[in-house]
Amino acid sequence: MQLLGIAGSLRKGSYNRALLRAAAELAPPGAVLEEHDLRGLPIYDGDLEAAGDPEPVTALKDAIRRADALVIATPEYNRGIPGGLKNAIDWASRPALASPLAGKPVAIMGASTGRGGTARAQQQLREALGFPRAMVLEEPEILVPEAYLYFDEDGELVDQETRGQIAELLASLARVPVLAAVVDAGNIAPVD
Ligand code: FNR
Repeated sequence: MQLLGIAGSLRKGSYNRALLRAAAELAPPGAVLEEHDLRGLPIYDGDLEAAGDPEPVTALKDAIRRADALVIATPEYNRGIPGGLKNAIDWASRPALASPLAGKPVAIMGASTGRGGTARAQQQLREALGFPRAMVLEEPEILVPEAYLYFDEDGELVDQETRGQIAELLASLARVPVLAAVVDAGNIAPVD
């Protein structure tokens, strides 16, 4: 099973990228998680899209298509989803209802230095993935507040309870039948 990891933060020392590294370690046997870097994606622009997806967009959409499931780790910016991550979802959600996201199983998680642990960002992320018909797992919710308490100086997730929750989430993800094979682009008429 191929899992595609997407972090809503680009920085090297990102807690959310560290969460993805932990997820790669905790994935069930037979599942391999690789991270896709969102750096270089232009802002969504219908004129660019009409002229043919730019290369970073094609790379993102191909990676999502190839993956059996997605694992998204998001920070919270100003009480919501980071703009860069929302932009990536906007690109990947095209063509509407027949995009690479349609029917794709998704596990979400997030770490922030605030006390809310990305609850508000994750709520917005669920909503953004809903219209493209991605299938976002409900539980367990992985909320990491005050993230500096959960990671060591090497960026290793050391909180055992969170490690257990991530293992549980990924085991659930692996059990989701790959409905994307059924709900594939050919079976759903694209709309503008
Ligand atoms: C933040 N941060 C933040 N934290 C939070 O809990 N709620 C919030 O609304 C915000 N808002 C916010 C806005 C912006 C623009 C930045 C840059 C940061 C703090 C954030 O949780 C912290 O920087 C995390 O470390 C970001 O995640 P990464 O980069 O470590 O993955």
